Amino acid sequence: MIVVPGPASTTLGESVAKEFGVDVVKVEFKIFPDGESYIRFTRNVEGEDVVIVQSTYPPQDTHLIQLFLMIDNARKLKSRNIVAVSPYLAYARQDKVFRPYEVVSVKTILKIFEGLGLNFLITVDIHDSGVFEDVGFKCLNLSAVKLLAEYFQNNFNLERPVAFAPDEKAVKMVKDVVNIYGWDSGWFKKERDRVTGEISMKCEGVFDVRDRDAVIFDDIISTGGTTATAAKMLKSMGAKRVYSACVHPLLVNGAYEKIIKSGVEKIVATDTIPRNVSLISVKQLIVEALKSLNL
Ligand code: R5P
Repeated sequence: MIVVPGPASTTLGESVAKEFGVDVVKVEFKIFPDGESYIRFTRNVEGEDVVIVQSTYPPQDTHLIQLFLMIDNARKLKSRNIVAVSPYLAYARQDKVFRPYEVVSVKTILKIFEGLGLNFLITVDIHDSGVFEDVGFKCLNLSAVKLLAEYFQNNFNLERPVAFAPDEKAVKMVKDVVNIYGWDSGWFKKERDRVTGEISMKCEGVFDVRDRDAVIFDDIISTGGTTATAAKMLKSMGAKRVYSACVHPLLVNGAYEKIIKSGVEKIVATDTIPRNVSLISVKQLIVEALKSLNL
């Protein structure tokens, strides 16, 4: 097995290779003046099992094209199995038709992978793993929820913590936290206007956050609207301190400032997207998943 750390995930890719004690194949890359990407492997990969590590955070189109080019290059150079490790898989939120005549973008991405001859895809907390049904290669969806919960359990002196889901999609994450640490839980119901992107949130169920610490769990923070709205509601319900735990910190359009302004003490995220808040590495999850493939 050899590891090819893509331009978007050099550090993560190199640390995965180090863990296995295998060769790193460096990638020569550049962006042409018109925005197109260039990729060259610095050695042959013929006959090898090739693990390409490339997260596809913004600029996601560039990072995706680089990933496609690397997979295609590995296939052209007659590698054996090709594994794409893309801890944050772009376009995963458009996983169904919300309005008539829309494209299901994540399906398009998966079809391209299949066409390129990818053998395995490893990702972390994809928005909905249901999109992997009917895909012609093996997909592993890893969960970083335990790592996030563990970080809060070990590094903060939380007072009677409540794990909070800011929408129905995040309820599964919160249930996992409850199962691991026995925290109490609660959730909101979120509705998003599919045209304007505006969100509204309301309380679901009965729970008491008064004078307690709340941790909002979500897979993605993009503009920060979801977390900030949930934080303000928790504060108005009497929560003592509010924290944010997120797997993929996209943090676009001033999201960090918006969330802190809403009353959140600290944002803790993973390194599926390298940002200042990426305090937890998913490296070990990836290493275990690769071992399970028995390459
Ligand atoms: C949506 O279903 C996701 O799970 C996140 O809640 C959403 O992507 C967060 O977006 P934003 O930070 O822009 O509210």
